[in-house]
Amino acid sequence: MAVSSTLSRLNLLPRPLLPYAVSTLRALKFRPRCAPLTSFSNSFSAHFSTPKSSAEPNTQIPGAPDDDFIVLGIETSCDDTAAAVVRSSGEILSQVVSSQADLLARYGGVAPKMAEEAHSQVIDQVVQEAIDKANVRETDLSAVAVTIGPGLSLCLRVGVRKARKTAGRFNLPIIGVHHMEAHALVARLMEKKLQFPFMALLISGGHNLLILAQDLGQYIQLGTTIDDAVGEAYDKTAKWLGLDLRRSGGPAIEELAREGDAKSIKFSIPMKQHKDCNFSYAGLKTQVRLAIKSRNIDAEIPISCANHQDRSSRADIAASFQRVAVLHLEERCERAIEWALNIEPSIKHLVVSGGVASNQYVRAQLDQVVKKNSLQLVCPPPSLCTDNGVMVAWTGIEHFRVGRFDPPPPADEPEDFVNDLRPRWPLGEEYAEGRSEARSLRRARIHPSLTSIIQASLQQQR
Ligand code: KG4
Ligand code: ZN
Repeated sequence: MAVSSTLSRLNLLPRPLLPYAVSTLRALKFRPRCAPLTSFSNSFSAHFSTPKSSAEPNTQIPGAPDDDFIVLGIETSCDDTAAAVVRSSGEILSQVVSSQADLLARYGGVAPKMAEEAHSQVIDQVVQEAIDKANVRETDLSAVAVTIGPGLSLCLRVGVRKARKTAGRFNLPIIGVHHMEAHALVARLMEKKLQFPFMALLISGGHNLLILAQDLGQYIQLGTTIDDAVGEAYDKTAKWLGLDLRRSGGPAIEELAREGDAKSIKFSIPMKQHKDCNFSYAGLKTQVRLAIKSRNIDAEIPISCANHQDRSSRADIAASFQRVAVLHLEERCERAIEWALNIEPSIKHLVVSGGVASNQYVRAQLDQVVKKNSLQLVCPPPSLCTDNGVMVAWTGIEHFRVGRFDPPPPADEPEDFVNDLRPRWPLGEEYAEGRSEARSLRRARIHPSLTSIIQASLQQQR
């Protein structure tokens, strides 16, 4: 059985001269797409991994025809099957998402085996639709980007297989993408002024990260969750309140909370006594569950069938939960801004991204925090906050531009090829001064962080 080379490429390849990165792009754009695999692969592996600064992401792009390229992005790390085609200028040529919301609503969570099956059923169609809608052919692509972690192995595998099949067939380089980096970097596609260093709060169903992004692939983790992510707390609260989960729990809570009194129930703010930037939502979940029980709310009765008093009681819980869940985010962001400005005083932006960032209340509250600290909030539009293929394609573009990619896989790669999947893959190195005593993170089988891999490769090239 063969094993993917994604890791080794970063560590072992010789350091190229800077101009080679540009000529690599030219070569990729004008190369014959179906050149014999061996010669093609040899020709650009010599030009791998240029440690070019990416502080000014877009200045090199406009009007430079030899830097105009197109990347297909594929995302299957959790419960959305997504693909998109994006131009290196930032133009989104297509975006397709097939959601498993119905499955989620039926089973109240993501069951890996079922999610894998659902991805497998639609992946070909989703990718084809993305290519058709973009009005391009596979031969117009310069590379394929795909999420390789973190996420559910079974689900990641579906996307990676499809990406390698497509890349192998059309002789395209492949870029393995970190899902959380993609959530952060998609903000640079929307906001061209967003340069490194910047801060990011990444809030989704499985992750709660506060990071300082120093450069492309270079992240300091200021805080993470010690148990659940905020999106998980939204989802469970929605389930226990009998809400309609077909658009996932977050939007359902956001909507119902507008009817409720956010100060009616005094949930306590998590981790008040810990003066760090880590998060915890398990305790708040328990408080919500107890409040629901004490009010005799029956999740079996859907909210649509609840009487007036029952509905208003559920709305109060939704609003009170949301207020405290977001207060926790606000407090941690305040402190993280202080820490980050000590490390990098030139920071001007806080990016808020990931599914929960599509919430208007979350955005409004964090906007106040950011303004108080004379920073600017950057939030991608909701369709780019929740999982999507654009963020993967764009992150692929950012790495491809500086020469970080894998050679095309063989067209006849065997079905049992062991892909390089990274289900538990930290984004950055932990900020030493921010390490919490409350941290109980399971560290078993964690892959080295993206940042440490890139740093190791840069050091080797020096
Ligand atoms: O980033 P994402 O699409 O997938 C993961 O990587 O997990 O985030 C999904 C999470 C879910 O927990 C969902 O309930 C939450 O984002 N979410 C929201 C909203 N829209 C999605 N949470 C609160 N308010 C929303 N409007
Ligand atoms: Zn996500």
